Amino acid sequence: MNRASLFATLDHIENLPTLPAVVLEVNQLLQDFETPIESVCRTIEKDQAMVPRILKLVNSAFFGLRCGVSTISHAVVLLGFNTIRNAVVSVGVIDSFGSKQQLAGFDITKFWTHSVAVAVTSRHLAERSHLHYAGDAFTAGLLHDMGKLVLFRYFRTLFEAAWQSSQNCPVSFYEAERKELPATHADVGAYLVKRWQLPHRLTDAIRYHHSVRAEVADRNLLLIVHAADVIVNRLDGRSDDSPPDLTRLHPDAAHRLRGCLENLTDWYPAAEDEIQSACQFFFAG
Ligand SMILES: [Fe+2]
Ligand SMILES: [Fe+2]
Repeated sequence: MNRASLFATLDHIENLPTLPAVVLEVNQLLQDFETPIESVCRTIEKDQAMVPRILKLVNSAFFGLRCGVSTISHAVVLLGFNTIRNAVVSVGVIDSFGSKQQLAGFDITKFWTHSVAVAVTSRHLAERSHLHYAGDAFTAGLLHDMGKLVLFRYFRTLFEAAWQSSQNCPVSFYEAERKELPATHADVGAYLVKRWQLPHRLTDAIRYHHSVRAEVADRNLLLIVHAADVIVNRLDGRSDDSPPDLTRLHPDAAHRLRGCLENLTDWYPAAEDEIQSACQFFFAG
């Protein structure tokens, strides 16, 4: 299978995971800056199951706000469209894809724990470095590896070929994908997110999180998600307090985020607590 036929197949998969209708509608409305607040609120409120989860998320510490809003319209006025879009997308993605439904051979719990960890860490990096708006960082982090789910579900043979190769060589899964597959999970995730009409800066952060480049819609967001992924992978399961080996970081990320990286072991424990509460929020019950 070549790259074109992989994406053509993706286009024709009828039951390709889709976000709840309300998320797509909100994204569509927010393409237009002139959209009245009432239209956005009315659209979100159509999905009554989602409303309390969105409010709980924007009031949560791990989303970085803890702002005490009690209605969608109050949230939109206070936090703005962009934050609301991020909250709606985050809740929608977990509602659609985060089910505990087990996929044999793929550790879905580990997958989501990693994604949530990268989301929270991205948010911390954005806030601490002042390089980017924190809400975008959280959402991009949450979605950065979505392509793995799609490859696993719909292109199982390809996924397994890359997996085997990463075990045999051994190289990272991404390096094995580049060697064995017509497209990587980063390409596939970006393709999916583009279909959901999310802003280009999010699509680019997903597409290039393993292959940082200069020509992207928002370089700071890309550097943050890339760095968060490296940090989480390095700190995952570590048992001592020594500084993690971050040599895999792109030099620009190491340079621009230097302040946050130097005192990483001071702030990361707080982030870990937030990762735990974010996992509980998204997956409990
Ligand atoms: Fe990845
Ligand atoms: Fe990752």
